[in-house]
Amino acid sequence: MIDFECTPQVALEFMNREHRKAFDDANALKRLLDSALALRLFGASGSEAVDELGDEIETEMEIKTSQLDSDEIEQLMETLLSDTVRHFELEEESMEEYGFPARGEHSEEHRRVLQWMKDEHSLWSRDCSIETINHLSIYAADRFPKWLLNHIVTMDTVMASYIHRHGGTSL
Ligand SMILES: [Fe+2]
Ligand SMILES: [Fe+2]
Repeated sequence: MIDFECTPQVALEFMNREHRKAFDDANALKRLLDSALALRLFGASGSEAVDELGDEIETEMEIKTSQLDSDEIEQLMETLLSDTVRHFELEEESMEEYGFPARGEHSEEHRRVLQWMKDEHSLWSRDCSIETINHLSIYAADRFPKWLLNHIVTMDTVMASYIHRHGGTSL
């Protein structure tokens, strides 16, 4: 996981706010996936001493807890997606307004990453298995934050300083 506090800031404050939100969303998703995984792996313990009725109640509770976790993961993935759509829209509006020369390449990269995120999201909609939890865990803790950090220190930094130099507000 990557913490926003440990990442370089860009020249426009609205972008820093969007980046903080993105790292927070990804970290919250990773924590939720960890707890869902622990529940799937260790939740179905069931002591051999419990009687049949006890077993039934326990299994029913596990199914409900598991469903609750799946719903929460779904909600967080939707939040990450809608926050990312907003994050990219704000940057693209700003690039357009100030005529940033490389806005085509920058927006294209946003589109690519948004499609990647939608694909990850649809994996979860199709199959809430342990394999998917593991896959999404790597996405939330490693692949997406690493992409974001790299994007911030390259494309976003260049764009923010250009817009800032051309009179863009830092708010
Ligand atoms: Fe950004
Ligand atoms: Fe960007």
